[in-house]
Amino acid sequence: MRYRSLPDGDRIPVIGLGTWRMGGGSEPDPSQDKQVLDALHTALELGYTHIDTAEMYGGGHTEELIGQVIRDSDRKTLFITSKVWHTNLHYRDVLHACENSLRRLGTDYLDLYMIHWPDAAVPLEDTFRGLNELVSAGLVRHLGVSNFELDQLIEARQLSTTPLVTDQVPYSLLDRTCAENGLLAYCQEKSMVLTAYSPVSKGKVNELEKLTTIARQIGATPTQVALSWLINQANVIAIPKSLNPEHLRQNLEALDLLLGEDELAILNQLAEGGKGEAAQ
Ligand SMILES: NC(=O)c1ccc[n+]([C@@H]2O[C@H](COP(=O)([O-])OP(=O)(O)OC[C@H]3O[C@@H](n4cnc5c(N)ncnc54)[C@H](OP(=O)(O)O)[C@@H]3O)[C@@H](O)[C@H]2O)c1
Repeated sequence: MRYRSLPDGDRIPVIGLGTWRMGGGSEPDPSQDKQVLDALHTALELGYTHIDTAEMYGGGHTEELIGQVIRDSDRKTLFITSKVWHTNLHYRDVLHACENSLRRLGTDYLDLYMIHWPDAAVPLEDTFRGLNELVSAGLVRHLGVSNFELDQLIEARQLSTTPLVTDQVPYSLLDRTCAENGLLAYCQEKSMVLTAYSPVSKGKVNELEKLTTIARQIGATPTQVALSWLINQANVIAIPKSLNPEHLRQNLEALDLLLGEDELAILNQLAEGGKGEAAQ
């Protein structure tokens, strides 16, 4: 596993396992539990140590499934992230939401807890009072945010006594918004990590013709090339989701794939005009 340094001197695994739609959408759906549990077990066996989840995923059921799988692991070897949903951003709700996530996950602490989406109706001070209290109580090790735009991130950093370690936003060859609007540069300047979600655009990157050509030339898969392009950018980590054992393995192996300057030039160009090349 490779790691990125966090501003407080700790480190986070560069590839994490996304878990959205494992165990349901926003409501629990146990119909795929066996497949999800198998995928989670496979991921741990392959060497994934970083799992990204949220209280909203599967209405809490995703955390329950992860809890079942990690209970036999050495907790210290894992990096577990969860997120508080935007309906729980008031001080007491934050404390309660974290308590529920910990119970479902069957763990004493979260490595990273983040605000899933900002909500202008709740003062951020209120939310950060709760989040920082969780850190003081030892229930959360690091704090972050998700889907925060640059001005919102700047405000959040000012309000949190615990330094924020990441903003989790969409980033892929097909969605370069965070690189274009200054968010990525800001994270790099402040030694924060940018966590790329939907890093393979839900599989759509595989439809990019130039990506497929590069992948064929270097003996990798298109998804591996797309992930390598991301995680070799300063301060970027990625959390691809897969239920397929072979895809899980390939995504982890993207850690070992180094792209040459020629390939990077083509990919950067592709990313700039990527939306045009995507299949409809
Ligand atoms: N903070 C937020 O608001 C937010 C929003 C969205 C996502 N996220 C997080 O980010 C994670 C990842 O994002 P995502 O789930 O939206 O999309 P994603 O990881 O970009 O794409 C997942 C899809 O790509 C396919 N895939 C994965 N690896 C593949 C491979 N090697 N070859 C071919 N297909 C592959 C998967 O299918 P198979 O199962 O068949 O492999 C799955 O359908 C989420 O699960 C969640 O943890 C956070």
